[in-house]
Amino acid sequence: MVHLRAGTAAREDVEGIVALSETVFADASMTAWRAHHVHAHLDRFPDGQTLVRLDGDLVGSSTTMRVTEQAAMADHTWMEATGGSTLPNHDPEGDVLYGLEIMVHPDHRGKGLGRLLYEARKVLVRELGLEALVIVGRVPGFDEAHTQDRITLETYVEDVVAGKRTDPVLTKQLAVGLEPADLVPNYVVDPASHHCGVRLRWEP
Ligand SMILES: CC(C)(COP(=O)(O)OP(=O)(O)OC[C@H]1O[C@@H](n2cnc3c(N)ncnc32)[C@H](O)[C@@H]1OP(=O)(O)O)[C@@H](O)C(=O)NCCC(=O)NCCS
Repeated sequence: MVHLRAGTAAREDVEGIVALSETVFADASMTAWRAHHVHAHLDRFPDGQTLVRLDGDLVGSSTTMRVTEQAAMADHTWMEATGGSTLPNHDPEGDVLYGLEIMVHPDHRGKGLGRLLYEARKVLVRELGLEALVIVGRVPGFDEAHTQDRITLETYVEDVVAGKRTDPVLTKQLAVGLEPADLVPNYVVDPASHHCGVRLRWEP
């Protein structure tokens, strides 16, 4: 029998989260969490750090912080929004839950674990009485589509939203009920997404 457990991360999970991050982001040319980053997340906002274990193995994690509505919806880069990987911009009074990172081990994608982590974020929004969950998500399928079909990011996102194309990340975020708001150019160093993100929002 498969044993699945989702819950709030703790100090003993730090090593596992770092290892997962190295596995997930090694092939995406992006920066992985380091141990002192994850410790800072737990110092600043322990309730916002969630993980999922499958048969005891740490296979998914979600990192969030609180920000104001204005900060969540302003033009910003990942660095400006977060203040950096140790979350100095976490605002304990902020009325928006801001998703910084979510990841599932490549061997376990497509099994509903990402859904579990997004649902945990929604539960937290409700429990804390917040206005919304906001994320700026990746579109890692864009580079290939752009190379093959010379389409713009706007067209690519429209196609994914219409179900005409499938993106490895955006398609899943739409499936869990996040609503696209706008595009955020130069959001984060992410060659596959041409460094752009799609801002998505969910309200309880
Ligand atoms: C994004 C990520 C966390 C999703 O995790 P996952 O475990 O693969 O997601 P799930 O299996 O729970 O799928 C989520 C939903 O998308 C749906 N989905 C998956 N593939 C789909 C497809 N081709 N078409 C339509 N819906 C699809 C699933 O059915 C599920 O919806 P459901 O619960 O209603 O069935 C994972 O792909 C990942 O770690 N990616 C790399 C890291 C990353 O880029 N993170 C995002 C940063 S913004």
